[in-house]
Amino acid sequence: MRRLVNAGTRLLASVSRLVQTRISMAFVKVAKLADLPPGQVMEATVDGRYFAVCNTGSEITCLDGECACTGGPLSQGTLRDGLVICPWHGWRYDCKTGVCAYDADMRQAMFPVKVEDGEIWIDASQPLEVVR
Ligand code: FES
Repeated sequence: MRRLVNAGTRLLASVSRLVQTRISMAFVKVAKLADLPPGQVMEATVDGRYFAVCNTGSEITCLDGECACTGGPLSQGTLRDGLVICPWHGWRYDCKTGVCAYDADMRQAMFPVKVEDGEIWIDASQPLEVVR
């Protein structure tokens, strides 16, 4: 019985390490914080997908980089009053929620961001759930 308990404990520890490794591997370093001044948006590419990484001045956020309109490059837009503005037709998205300023039912997917040691990391594996 004791052997069985020990084997179960080892198995749980292995699973826990795997889960922790998977979680930490999901984040990918995309830029140095110093390269993204407040009020700027920049492009990040992860696994061939484009993202718009925004520095609102109070936080770093990450939106799907392809505009919901017709796929314009949000990362090449501008940031104003907490909204990222698409360079193609001017659609605006809230940097913190991804919600379109013209149609609240439209939303760019948002992705987790962390800043560690002056570097920006994003997790492109799964969009954030945004509560409205
Ligand atoms: S492609 Fe972005 S506003 Fe049209």
